[in-house]
Amino acid sequence: MTPSSPKNATLLSPSREGIERAAQALRAGELVAMPTETVYGLAGAGLEASALSKIFAAKERPTFDPLILHVSWPTPKDSASGVTDPLTELERRDLVHLEGWSPIAREIAQKLLLEFWPGPLTLVLPKHPRVPDLATSGLPHVAIRMPRHPVARALIEAAGMPLAAPSANRFGRISPTRAEHVQSELGERIGWILDGGPCEVGVESTVIRLGSKGEAQLLRPGGIPAAEIERILGCPLQAPPLQPIAGPSGSPGAQIAPGLLESHYAPRKPFFLLPSTLADLPENLASIRSFQPLFQLIRKPNARLGFLSSGPDTGSAKSVLSLRLGQEAVAHEVLSPEGDALTAAQRLFSLLRWLDESSASVLVAEPWTREIHTGLGHAIQDRLKRASARNQITL
Ligand code: TXA
Ligand code: MG
Repeated sequence: MTPSSPKNATLLSPSREGIERAAQALRAGELVAMPTETVYGLAGAGLEASALSKIFAAKERPTFDPLILHVSWPTPKDSASGVTDPLTELERRDLVHLEGWSPIAREIAQKLLLEFWPGPLTLVLPKHPRVPDLATSGLPHVAIRMPRHPVARALIEAAGMPLAAPSANRFGRISPTRAEHVQSELGERIGWILDGGPCEVGVESTVIRLGSKGEAQLLRPGGIPAAEIERILGCPLQAPPLQPIAGPSGSPGAQIAPGLLESHYAPRKPFFLLPSTLADLPENLASIRSFQPLFQLIRKPNARLGFLSSGPDTGSAKSVLSLRLGQEAVAHEVLSPEGDALTAAQRLFSLLRWLDESSASVLVAEPWTREIHTGLGHAIQDRLKRASARNQITL
């Protein structure tokens, strides 16, 4: 008997019929991959435990890592009149429960949502009992976002319910920014992919947790620069807590900031992140102890190097590459030919995936060094670090 060939998911065009077909599948409890402005999400009925279980199973995601609920309705940005503010709408729809919240905390949440929704901001707020514990891994709060991708919004509205949607990749792997990435990650496991073309932002949403007194913690840097959020808050964001907390039943394991899992977004091949750009590194790298694991791999007889430069200067990078690492790359790409963070974020996951699928056997990247403290650069460098968590080089 020959093994049967793997089944692919059906690609749906983002037409009215495509969206309606996808919405039907969601209402029937099935999973659909949908485009958002950040990355593709693996969507399922957000308030149905059985659909949530399917998401965890398809991704092989541990149930201690909670999901984001995606919502959509007309906001004040869509139309000038006749719509309530997003926080009131979240309460009215029984998704969040803000008992004991100070007026100032409410005002902060309202301001953030009015400014950044729809868009790549996820807010973590106290959950309404109606939200299944499985969605939040037993935590008393729920992560919610309103994407700005028109196909995602149309799908959520056609489905008529909040959609839980983690990035549509297998757990720990590179996030998908095109429909074909989803096909190769999950095509055998899901029925439908809505193809909305390449994602515009390219890195996931910024996750902020708000407390009842208005305190705001940055749980994951992402598509909206922290500085823009701080401008609305009028004060700096707090660092995330380091300790996992227990769920309401005292169940251990759920982490308060699970987005901070150290290894994530990882290629399959060994992937090393340099401590500075190639040109800024000393010439005698092979003699530096922290570079030993990398040199052990690139000196193997059939080793082939894949390289991701951060900046524009590819021409000179090629010669510096031979000089510093002892060989040219069989696959070489530049994160942002113009050196800007917007392009780098857009291209990041796609290029990591391309390198992973190239003929290279060892992957090396330069760090991203622009807009690193407050801007989108923070999210790019965060993803590079987590993708290389097993192979970090320090000087
Ligand atoms: O841009 C995005 O946010 C994409 C698109 C598809 O919307 N989604 C996404 O989902 O990145 P996911 O599951 O890959 O990442 C969600 C992050 C995780 O790090 C998760 O641990 C965190 O949000 N999160 C979810 N619920 C949480 C909660 N109740 N408390 C703290 N962190 C939470
Ligand atoms: Mg993810």
